[in-house]
Amino acid sequence: MAEASGAARIERLLAAMTPAERIGQLVMLTGDMAVTGPGIAEDAVGRVRRGEAGAILNVWGYARTRALQRVAVEESRLRIPLLFGFDAIHGHRTILPAPIAEAGAFDPGLWQRTAALTGAEAARDGIAWSFAPMLDIARDLRWGRMVEGPGEDPWLAAQFARAKVEGLQSAGIAATAKHFVGYGASRAGRDYAQSELSPRSLEEVHLPPFRAAVEAGVLSVMPAFTEIDGVPLTAHRVLLGDVLRGRWGFAGVIVSDYTAIDELIAHGVAADHAEAAALALAAGVDIDMVGRSYALGLAEALARGLVTEAMIEASVRRVLTLKDRLGLLDDPYRFGVPGGAVPDAASRALARDAARRSIVLLSHRLPVLPLDPPPASLALLGPLAASAADLLGPWAGDGRPDEAVSLAEGIARVFDATEIRTAPGVPDETALDAALRFAQDAEAIVLALGESREMSGEAASRARPGLPADQERLARAVLALERPVVVLLVAGRPLTVPWLFERAAAVLALWHPGSEGGHAVADVLAGRWNPSARLAVSWPHDVGQAPISYDERPGGRPFAPGNRYTSRYLDLPNAPQFPFGHGLSYSRFELGAPVPERRRVRAGERLAVTVPVENHGPRAGETKVFLFSRDPVASVSRPLLELRAVERVALAAGARATVRFELAIDRLGFIGSDGVFRVEPGEIRLYAGPSADRSLLREAVIEIVA
Ligand code: BGC
Repeated sequence: MAEASGAARIERLLAAMTPAERIGQLVMLTGDMAVTGPGIAEDAVGRVRRGEAGAILNVWGYARTRALQRVAVEESRLRIPLLFGFDAIHGHRTILPAPIAEAGAFDPGLWQRTAALTGAEAARDGIAWSFAPMLDIARDLRWGRMVEGPGEDPWLAAQFARAKVEGLQSAGIAATAKHFVGYGASRAGRDYAQSELSPRSLEEVHLPPFRAAVEAGVLSVMPAFTEIDGVPLTAHRVLLGDVLRGRWGFAGVIVSDYTAIDELIAHGVAADHAEAAALALAAGVDIDMVGRSYALGLAEALARGLVTEAMIEASVRRVLTLKDRLGLLDDPYRFGVPGGAVPDAASRALARDAARRSIVLLSHRLPVLPLDPPPASLALLGPLAASAADLLGPWAGDGRPDEAVSLAEGIARVFDATEIRTAPGVPDETALDAALRFAQDAEAIVLALGESREMSGEAASRARPGLPADQERLARAVLALERPVVVLLVAGRPLTVPWLFERAAAVLALWHPGSEGGHAVADVLAGRWNPSARLAVSWPHDVGQAPISYDERPGGRPFAPGNRYTSRYLDLPNAPQFPFGHGLSYSRFELGAPVPERRRVRAGERLAVTVPVENHGPRAGETKVFLFSRDPVASVSRPLLELRAVERVALAAGARATVRFELAIDRLGFIGSDGVFRVEPGEIRLYAGPSADRSLLREAVIEIVA
């Protein structure tokens, strides 16, 4: 009923619109509350009043969104409400762990709850549309945007996509699957560079999370800044048109990335705004985010016969349909409440829990953790020790440093009987000396090192993703004291610090843990939380190993120790410092071999596989069991490992359990060299284990019969 009347209303509006008003619905202007690209000053109010804009970026808050909405609804000719969009990537006001961190919780329920909180907070602040989830598969730590997404694995990313879309949209706002597609393969990890991708890696690695988002009902999609094979994604008729809209049936809104339609000129595929507009529209891009091409070039493109009125109408219809789906045509003021989104006890508790579940115990060379009983004194050293802003990380929405708990604050609260002294230890000798004095006097030493929030995210590629020089100097000086040192790494990417792993007693990857980061870390240090998170990306020894992921194919000369003429480096191992899925616990879990319920299976069937698990350690904890497979002989070479499922299991000390997986045999199929999907008969190896470290996996063999 509502649908039908909505569709009729949209057609009435379309019929009443002038050509300029139609184009206006396809234009998104930016406010100046957040800077996410080269700024462009706009006379936003006047343009809204004249019906020259249908959506607004980077304006939030009850009063501001309402004031601008009032101009659209009371002063523009057709009174069409505006869509307010903003990047709610890992939180709006309450900041949750960065996606690369939260992915490591391997917990769809958690991902959904944090997205629902983010969506609800954004909606309370007047936002109807979030530019999340970011679903770019990232395998190169040089690329700063690795922090925004779910890591290296397509199956994991697809689970993440589903949970995030459902969570955000459960709050009544629209989610955006971005950046479609292949942006994470940016050449040499440099942002905005071209992507070199084979059709197979596109299909098997980069597209799956987007497909999952579409299946979960995502209401919008954003093409990537990048280009593949010379075709910018913003103008990619095959990927946007044939695959996304055609093969997958996506009927929602495609919004360009920030000024990406204009950038078709810089890419060298359009001569002017009219050509750029025509290319994007023909590929199915409905909204021009902040660019000038639709506003200045679309009418001209129509006059030159590069686009048709029907193409423009189709895009306007999709935009109006989105506004209708969000309830804006019925109630333009339905988003936003006075007071906006203020963190409360429940949002803080969720942020603390999510952060604890995202902290990875990378190494534990000496048994120093947990700090239980608490030490009498503790030196907390490093530039990340007292900084709350850096715990929020990049893309922190409306997250406010003064509402975030720094490491120093969180640790002081949890270790309330410990004498804590904090010093940055950088940038100069004086600071270093002060830090060393604190270290010498303290019973426990904790170093808080890593990246500031500006060092990852968009436009934050690093060719040398180690520690900044002054931090390295501090760390080396403290380690030279020959005392056990616990290191907390704050970062948006793996950091290549092999020397640190060799000498620190224990290292925890905090990533950017969010508003409650300080409390969450303190919970882990104190043993109130037993670390359970895993790496969603391989953590290399050195940048020279990038790009790196666990799912490589064997090649004709797979590495063989002692044989130079096999695939290897002369100066580094092939394996990363820590594999995908790695993460230690204060307990010890033992996993048995996978037990398939039968050996012979057929396409279309399901197979139960069980894996016994036991907690041999002294504490209750949660572990994760990974199920991989390998097809050793197929018509095309298949990866050495492919992730099929992950189960979380919480066990008391000494307890055992049996984890049960349900594997759809069709997932073992692949696209043949003829481009056709098939499930080939033959042997399949199943592997269960704690990570993608092949030396730790236990095997079972099944056979697909025709
Ligand atoms: C980013 C997008 C983001 C947009 C709006 C761009 O620079 O690439 O991910 O959604 O800005 O802030």
